[in-house]
Amino acid sequence: MKPIQVGLLGIGTVGGGTYNVLRRNQSEILRRAGRGIEITTVADRDLERARRIVGPDVKVTDDAFAVVRDPAIDIVVELIGGYTVAKDLILEAIANGKHVVTANKALLAKFGNEIFAKAQAKGVMVAFEAAVAGGIPIIKALREGLTANRIEWIAGIINGTSNFILSEMRDKGLPFDVVLKEAQRLGYAEADPTFDIEGVDAAHKLTIMAAIGFGVPMQFERAYTEGISRLTREDIRYAEELGYRIKLLGITRRTAKGIELRVHPTLIPARRLIANVEGVMNAVLVKADAVGPTLYYGAGAGAEPTGSAVVADLVDVTRMHTADPEHRVPHLAFQPDQLSDTPILPMDDVETAYYLRLRVQDRPGVLADITRILADHAISIDAMVQKEPAEGQEQVDIVMLTHLTVERQVNAAIANIEALESVTGKVTRIRLEELGKY
Ligand code: NDP
Ligand code: HSE
Repeated sequence: MKPIQVGLLGIGTVGGGTYNVLRRNQSEILRRAGRGIEITTVADRDLERARRIVGPDVKVTDDAFAVVRDPAIDIVVELIGGYTVAKDLILEAIANGKHVVTANKALLAKFGNEIFAKAQAKGVMVAFEAAVAGGIPIIKALREGLTANRIEWIAGIINGTSNFILSEMRDKGLPFDVVLKEAQRLGYAEADPTFDIEGVDAAHKLTIMAAIGFGVPMQFERAYTEGISRLTREDIRYAEELGYRIKLLGITRRTAKGIELRVHPTLIPARRLIANVEGVMNAVLVKADAVGPTLYYGAGAGAEPTGSAVVADLVDVTRMHTADPEHRVPHLAFQPDQLSDTPILPMDDVETAYYLRLRVQDRPGVLADITRILADHAISIDAMVQKEPAEGQEQVDIVMLTHLTVERQVNAAIANIEALESVTGKVTRIRLEELGKY
């Protein structure tokens, strides 16, 4: 049978990794797919670099639109990134009846509902394993492996760059900026690294997992997003002293009132497996009703790990493209007419535990004022430590861990505590999750 013809758009970090994995493992992949898969055309702005990677036998062009219009191309692989030209290219590929493979989580989280609807109408597949957690086959696991289950919650370290930064800062004491530059050099970071450090990239991925896990549309605009840029070394150290690690977690949970969809730095007990995921590695913990907890671990970014996921999608599409579209796995795991309108819970209504750090005057009555405010807001204290004052200082840090509390109450209590004359500056508030003891 004639090999399936692939047009690759963008041969940067992931495009290069994809090309190399496919070429190196082509005979193994042929035995699996039952048909050859050939990248016949590559589009990139940098023609010289593209030519250096693919050699003389592959067509190279700087006109990506010509590729999506080329009748000889069966599958378009979009690895350019961003919301603009990538969106136009994908929509045009779909309109031309081509299947699409993409790693573009930003695009899917924002425009996935439109893209999947158009693909459904046209009877083509849009595959996106590489969009979440790099090389970890988490989309396959959520969409197919766990299909018997009612998924209860998902919690993941899903941004390699920020996990790399947190690990290097903690282990080597390196400053934030130095580690970020290294992550960029290694090809982990997004074109705009604020997406990585401010939690936006993790929120894109979480949005996709929530849609597949709970059968709801993509609702990135309702995700709560807070990054790691304001974390201090003291908080990382105090958390460690209390037996916790701070990780940037994406959490989505089904509750009686709605679906939680939130990304923020989170204290996790240090003895949990997921607390020990370091560097660029990602991990996703899924709690489902029948199987219980399952944990998926692997490289969350980088050329070949992500290329591995792109090539897996190419094999899937090659196997399935002759199947009746009605019998393929639905894009978002649930049949398109079965998506639910369960609301996304506003962050104020989320219930979790908290780490609070406040700097106070070391004098009688101060603690009583603070605990009274917490009690007035129905906040129960789980643990409290007063740190020794620094040499010559009259102020001390107080660190508290709370029991489960509604976010609105904590915010109101913090405002009252910050208004006390004995409290200096802002209260640091970091959420804490026990993760069901898994
Ligand atoms: P890169 O910037 O390394 O690669 C993108 C490539 O596309 C570059 O070579 C770029 O050229 C080229 N390009 C840009 N615009 C056009 C255009 N109009 N026509 C043709 N080529 C164009 O990005 P990555 O490989 O890191 O990321 C690609 C996608 O994969 C993104 O959606 C990203 O979010 C996603 N992803 C990335 C991961 C990673 O580890 N890096 C992991 C998982 C997903 P030029 O350099 O000249 O701009
Ligand atoms: N910038 C992303 C990260 C790439 O650091 O995880 C993988 O999606």
